[in-house]
Amino acid sequence: MRLLVCGGAGFIGSNFVRIRVREFGDEVTVLDKLTYAGRRENLHDVAGEIRFVAGAIEDPIAVADAVTGCEAIVNFAAETHVDRSIAGPEAFLITNMQGTHVLLEAARERSLRYLQVSTDEVYGSIEEGSFTETSPLAPSSPYSATKTGADLLVSSYFHTYGLETVICRGSNSYGPYQYPEKLIPLMILNAFAGDRLPVYGDGRNVRNWLFVEDFGRGIGHVLAHGVPGEVYNCGGPDECENLTVVKRILELTGALESLIEYVTDRLGHDRRYSLSSQKLRALGWEAQVRFEAGLERTVNWYRDNERWWQPIRSGAYRDYYERHYSRALKG
Ligand SMILES: NC(=O)c1ccc[n+]([C@@H]2O[C@H](COP(=O)([O-])OP(=O)(O)OC[C@H]3O[C@@H](n4cnc5c(N)ncnc54)[C@H](O)[C@@H]3O)[C@@H](O)[C@H]2O)c1
Repeated sequence: MRLLVCGGAGFIGSNFVRIRVREFGDEVTVLDKLTYAGRRENLHDVAGEIRFVAGAIEDPIAVADAVTGCEAIVNFAAETHVDRSIAGPEAFLITNMQGTHVLLEAARERSLRYLQVSTDEVYGSIEEGSFTETSPLAPSSPYSATKTGADLLVSSYFHTYGLETVICRGSNSYGPYQYPEKLIPLMILNAFAGDRLPVYGDGRNVRNWLFVEDFGRGIGHVLAHGVPGEVYNCGGPDECENLTVVKRILELTGALESLIEYVTDRLGHDRRYSLSSQKLRALGWEAQVRFEAGLERTVNWYRDNERWWQPIRSGAYRDYYERHYSRALKG
């Protein structure tokens, strides 16, 4: 298949591109704005086999160039970090909503299949049980609100224009190439360095962890087999409290538990996310990687790939980290 993968230089997008090129022989064009989270290094091993266009999804000219010759659009491009959305929501509105609109128009003009990559955060927090695709949408951060808005816009293009759209909502993902502002890589790299490990609130927030390759294959499965107009949840096989995740990382890295530092909780922090993936399983997808094994693989990948993360740790990310978490620690 000839695919336009937007946001393909980010964490999940680059893992997806690797799977599609290596295992499915797809012809891939990546369109990516290369924000702080997007890096061409994430695609180093498939760079010779794909077309790369540097540009923004909210720019119709860049999109028109990139989409030429493609049969389907898969949209990963987004501002994705909840803490950043609390500090400055504007970029989230522009990329997550306006950008999605530009891509939908490009798909409509050319009658392309369109897959929107979305998140369990659109459902909000759940104390017990799991969200299904028909659960009410109740986002709580500017990040999840803009992702929800984008999902609704995607659905409207199916209902109004008959565009072949599908939406795949994943749970919290982890694995190689994840930018180290997110919980798991942040804790791994801090543990390697002997830095403190900032844990929000009481650390009892529960996340439904999904190994990135399982998510990538789930998205590919929805692209190939999903029914137009439908939404498919893609949840991980295990749920785990943040504090348990952090303690397991300490064990895997051999770092001391005294590095854990409890910091003031994130504003509006959702307590628990949980997805039912029954609908996607009925379509033939199954998560393959249990959390325990996936976490060990992830720690090993970061241990073996210092060259990938060292420039990030020593650059602008460091300033962001210091500003954000120093403030949280003082709060
Ligand atoms: N990380 C998770 O746990 C998770 C879980 C479920 C769903 N998702 C969704 O999956 C998608 C990818 O998430 P991720 O964790 O890989 O994100 P990421 O932040 O690692 O990557 C985002 C990518 O999008 C690019 N980008 C940002 N703004 C852009 C724009 N305006 N135009 C073009 N490119 C732009 C960035 O440069 C980067 O390459 C997002 O839509 C996110 O909402 C993420």
